[in-house]
Amino acid sequence: MLTLFPEMFPGPLGISLVGTALEKGIWSLETVDIRDYGIGRHRNVDDTPAGGGAGMVMRADVLGAAIDAARASAPALTAIYLSPRGRPLTQARVRALADGPGVMMLAGRFEGVDERVIEGRGLEEVSIGDYVLSGGELAAMVVVDACVRLRDGVLGAADSLGEESFEAGLLEYPHYTRPREWEGRAIPDVLLSGDHRRIADWRRQEAEALTQSRRPDLMATAAKGDNDD
Ligand code: ADE
Repeated sequence: MLTLFPEMFPGPLGISLVGTALEKGIWSLETVDIRDYGIGRHRNVDDTPAGGGAGMVMRADVLGAAIDAARASAPALTAIYLSPRGRPLTQARVRALADGPGVMMLAGRFEGVDERVIEGRGLEEVSIGDYVLSGGELAAMVVVDACVRLRDGVLGAADSLGEESFEAGLLEYPHYTRPREWEGRAIPDVLLSGDHRRIADWRRQEAEALTQSRRPDLMATAAKGDNDD
């Protein structure tokens, strides 16, 4: 994790399922403080944008040196730059990253990073959604969390991955548990029928209706039977 704020890590990644997996050594995390590669007495990492305009841009020479140092110890890693300009993260991309050798992630601050470092170091730009965060660190944590929970030994046997949202290209059906009635709301009868066939049909219909109303874009992909991206 290349960041100006290494103290943000592991942060929430040190807690619960993912944190326990970190303690068990199922995954590991190394932070690189970009400031260590800063220029001059003040360890400058940014400068004003060429062409003028507001904000500051992270320097290509500083980031290049930080990336090269990280790559020297881990050359095989996929290199990602978290950015709202990136391709939106999907469960399919998460699966591929989780199956891979690991990821090197650059978390930007300020207006962004010098474009030449993205090109020159072949960084894959990844977005976690159409909104702008104050830095890439939280986005990087989202990527890690989504990947780590797919690794063997992280989820208990009781936690099924098979039916969760996006695995079939659909949003997940609604869940219920005791009590049977709460504030006048009953659990749908079909779920108490013991008829596994009817339950499966009902869940499929609910998942399709939910996806159709909230995410019609996913519906189009699910219909093609292709949710690989
Ligand atoms: N950095 C700032 N906003 C971001 C976003 N939406 N996704 C990924 N990285 C970001």
